[in-house]
Amino acid sequence: MNKERKLIIAGNWKMNKTVAEALDLVRGLKIELANQKEVDVVVCPPFTALSEVSKAILDSNIRLGAQNMSEHNVGAHTGEIAAVMLKEFSVRYVILGHSERRQHQKESNALISRKALAAHAASLKPIVCVGETLAEREAGETEKVLETQVRGSLAGLTKDQMTETIIAYEPVWAIGTGKTATTQQAQEAHAFIRGLLAKMFDETVARRVRIQYGGSVKPSNARELMSQPDVDGALVGGASLEARSFAEIIKNSI
Ligand code: PGA
Repeated sequence: MNKERKLIIAGNWKMNKTVAEALDLVRGLKIELANQKEVDVVVCPPFTALSEVSKAILDSNIRLGAQNMSEHNVGAHTGEIAAVMLKEFSVRYVILGHSERRQHQKESNALISRKALAAHAASLKPIVCVGETLAEREAGETEKVLETQVRGSLAGLTKDQMTETIIAYEPVWAIGTGKTATTQQAQEAHAFIRGLLAKMFDETVARRVRIQYGGSVKPSNARELMSQPDVDGALVGGASLEARSFAEIIKNSI
């Protein structure tokens, strides 16, 4: 597939995999994806497996991401992890503002933007998640919700920082439900977000930013989703927990 932007496909393992299980999975992925250079591949294990996974992927094209981080650099923040701590394990990406955290940890757009700035300050590339709920889509509010999330979560970023930021469009109703947005729904939302980036930054930035689709991506729907002009990759949950299915999503996207 000849795309303007290099595809980036990330596996969000969420709260799954012990260290031993994580190592099994990446060993499988290394075999499945040996010599694969066409897609940027990222795995985002839980914090507890970052150290071992980091060592296991040293000799591969797989890159490491974390699932969250603190907006703070150091200090009295019990249970939090700072960007510099992630850097110790050669983490390059960090998922911010996943809908599960927006919902259960009440993460606000303002907090997510502070985290995005902290990530860039540490040279980590944020994967900033946005997406509407089913009620919001049915009420015709998808664009309004996306605009508020995109403007709020990316507030204060410079053009250079924005270019190095990845956006994940994840309709909440499609996450873990087996329901995928139609290619048309995905393309429309992605084009809308790219148009917003042009207004907030400029056309060049908008053209460069990679926008992933997330929500029940699997081997059978990856090709069609990735064929859309504004879909530049995927953030994969359930189907990234098994080497064969994650690798197939990547192969089917090329
Ligand atoms: P899913 O999760 O692929 O299991 O729907 C996607 C996500 O939450 O990032």
